[in-house]
Amino acid sequence: MRVDVVSIFPDYLSVLDLSLVGKARQRGLLDLRVHDLRDWTTDRHRTVDDTPFGGGAGMVMRPDVWGQAIDEVLGAGTGTRSEGAHLIVPTPSGEVFTQRHAESLASAEQLVFACGRYEGIDARVAEHYRSAGVTVHELSIGDYVLNGGEVASLVMIEAVARLIPGMVGNPDSLVEESHGAAGLLEYPVYTKPPSWADLEIPEVLLSGHHAKIERWRRDQALERTAARRPDMIEALDVAGLDKHDLKLLAELGWVPGADGGGLTRA
Ligand code: ADE
Repeated sequence: MRVDVVSIFPDYLSVLDLSLVGKARQRGLLDLRVHDLRDWTTDRHRTVDDTPFGGGAGMVMRPDVWGQAIDEVLGAGTGTRSEGAHLIVPTPSGEVFTQRHAESLASAEQLVFACGRYEGIDARVAEHYRSAGVTVHELSIGDYVLNGGEVASLVMIEAVARLIPGMVGNPDSLVEESHGAAGLLEYPVYTKPPSWADLEIPEVLLSGHHAKIERWRRDQALERTAARRPDMIEALDVAGLDKHDLKLLAELGWVPGADGGGLTRA
């Protein structure tokens, strides 16, 4: 996969040399290139922003500079533009980025991250590339405001990169994690020593009884999800729940809706 990140603070992205993403780059699984947006400016001051039409506070990033940058990293005009390119614009006004986005982006040929600063990027940039046939995603990593798209891009790159085949040493570790297919948060995990700070490991985990362990973990996942993320309980597919799940959920105050739809509070 090719990933391009365009920013006025390319050094912000230097952490992509580290850890799993850094190793994937070394192993050639990920062709990741970070670019300085100012390289596409043409004036002496290397200007990337201007005042907003219609007035208001702050500055807006210029579409002409962004257009030059994005055209070049997409290979436009060189005949090398990949059909599978996705342009990602991190913005607090975007759709919320989830594991589903990460899964779908993991099979893309090229991802281009356009990191805005100030009040954001002139809205014509997203509009233009959409009309030009590029898949454009305006994505937020959560309901809070950052100073720019760099940290949000780091979050999304890590979430996507670990799903690229060959990236994670043991792919089984991706199966049961939070926000996976089960639609539940992950159960709590424990390791050695068995006794620490007067706290013991739940007995069942030492029993060697696989079916019991699996059931305990599922119960923990359901309880955790109900306590922390009721929105995820509401979104569960009732058809995917067994009798034991439904009993536990009823004890926690969740019952299948009368319309045969999802779960609702009793
Ligand atoms: N830029 C500023 N805040 C952001 C957020 N929450 N998500 C994505 N990009 C952002």
